[in-house]
Amino acid sequence: MSVIFAPSLLSADFARIADQIAEIEAGGADFLHLDVMDGRFVPNLTWGPKIIGDLRKLSQRPFDCHLMIVEPERYVDDFRAAGADIITFHYEATPHAQRLLAHIRSLGAKAGISICPQTPVAMLQDIIEDCDLVLVMSVNPGFGGQKFIPRSYEKLREARALIDARNPACILEVDGGVGKENLRAVVDAGARAIVMGSSVFGTDAPAATLREMRALLSNS
Ligand code: DX5
Ligand code: ZN
Repeated sequence: MSVIFAPSLLSADFARIADQIAEIEAGGADFLHLDVMDGRFVPNLTWGPKIIGDLRKLSQRPFDCHLMIVEPERYVDDFRAAGADIITFHYEATPHAQRLLAHIRSLGAKAGISICPQTPVAMLQDIIEDCDLVLVMSVNPGFGGQKFIPRSYEKLREARALIDARNPACILEVDGGVGKENLRAVVDAGARAIVMGSSVFGTDAPAATLREMRALLSNS
């Protein structure tokens, strides 16, 4: 089974971002996960389309943009124009998720939806066919370095079952508090794209860390 590694640049050192991207690519990063925060949907701020457009020049890997913003429908066109390949917004951030998923697809991007820890997987039942990616948040979004919420394993299993039954091509992604100690467990629960921030960039050698993580998944 192939598992996608999506290191989150949230925990990278932006003073040497080109080197940091080169390191994770050397370590086998499949996607670059880019966390967009607006200080309203989540209590933190990061970057917008300009920075993503600049980063685009540094990498050929798919850009996996995680929008933690209110009114995401106002900005998806700008993120697509900046080079986002996957655009994931929050179920909790818009009353018209199905329309937005369809619109993202119409832009030629993959459409993702994310659920916060308090949102049941069942809320995706009527829109699962419209999703190219489902992102189960395993922490409350806003910050790197938080502790994995154990209930997320059950949510991943539920999401896996929904995806297998109704839209097997949909990617199931997990984000928050994942590292060497629980990587195997989230994959066993059904995740196929793994976002990792502090557990990769918080180490001295991100490339070596990613290789060790890959090895952990091949020993089974
Ligand atoms: C948090 C972000 C994550 C963050 C994960 O709201 O969505 O992508 O970078 O960081 P870690 O892996 O450190 O929990
Ligand atoms: Zn994220």
